[in-house]
Amino acid sequence: MGEFAPCPAEALRAAEAVCGRPVELTEITDRRGSAVWRATGAVATMAVKYGYGEGEGTTAREAAVLDQLSGYTVVAGRAAGGFWYVTPWLEGPSTWKVFAPVRDGRDTQDRRGDRAPVLAGAVELCRAVAGLHAAGWVHGDLQPSHGIHTGTGVGLIDFAWSWHEGTGTARWRAFYGGITHLVAPELAAWITDGPQPVVPSARSDVYALAGVLWTCATGRWPLDYTAAGIQPDVGPAERRAAIAVGNIPLDSATPWPEFQDVLRPVLLSGPDDRPTAVELGNALASLT
Ligand SMILES: Nc1ncnc2c1ncn2[C@@H]1O[C@H](COP(=O)(O)OP(=O)(O)O)[C@@H](O)[C@H]1O
Ligand SMILES: [Mg+2]
Repeated sequence: MGEFAPCPAEALRAAEAVCGRPVELTEITDRRGSAVWRATGAVATMAVKYGYGEGEGTTAREAAVLDQLSGYTVVAGRAAGGFWYVTPWLEGPSTWKVFAPVRDGRDTQDRRGDRAPVLAGAVELCRAVAGLHAAGWVHGDLQPSHGIHTGTGVGLIDFAWSWHEGTGTARWRAFYGGITHLVAPELAAWITDGPQPVVPSARSDVYALAGVLWTCATGRWPLDYTAAGIQPDVGPAERRAAIAVGNIPLDSATPWPEFQDVLRPVLLSGPDDRPTAVELGNALASLT
């Protein structure tokens, strides 16, 4: 881990304009050429993201997406060596955090009581993805940390691999979004065999959505690689090639059987047989 990137002066000024001076910057993450701060002032709290080096292009693309989405305001610009944007800070836990009581087994005494808010969070995540899809967008990089559970529903973040239907496929030269473990088999096959540019779909989003929920509930990736004879330490390309072939069984841990029973067919079916995000949300909601 190197040092945290310095926040570009232009980005800080933009944050000050929205948040009020002085702004307190809190370092959140800095990895693969993408740094995020929480900027807090007297008036507002914003997220500042700075993409540099390999992260410059993806961050610029993400700012363009945020600019088109309703519910996100964005101020963006270039700085020496990179691209930054400022957007409202979404206050609340990530989906991963919302599921912590389930993973920790802290809810075994009174399962129904304690799992109800987690289930509600799962449904809200599905509804957020459904809302994005209904507006014609594909997220492309759903992860346990990319849903923020606010007091008014789930806000999605990290739109670097998002695209709007009907806008063509010339957004990126090569797709490398998504956590390999959560990439739908048909997308893994396309990434493996080409041709680029690979484009995620609403259906591959739903696979990732089910995979996110499975992972958050079990603390384990959905697929049992060992059972399929895949070594735990294979690189992403080899793992993706195996996912592309399919037939990898799901992990056998079932800490929340009825919840996982809803997710299982989503993770095992082909794209045409997957439910929509709306349908998945409704199926989960009916567990209450
Ligand atoms: N608008 C936001 N509101 C709240 N937290 C955010 C926001 N944007 C980013 N974050 C935080 O920063 C982290 C990294 O952001 P992300 O956009 O996923 O960047 P990366 O490109 O590093 O994956 C997130 O997991 C989240 O904790
Ligand atoms: Mg991210």
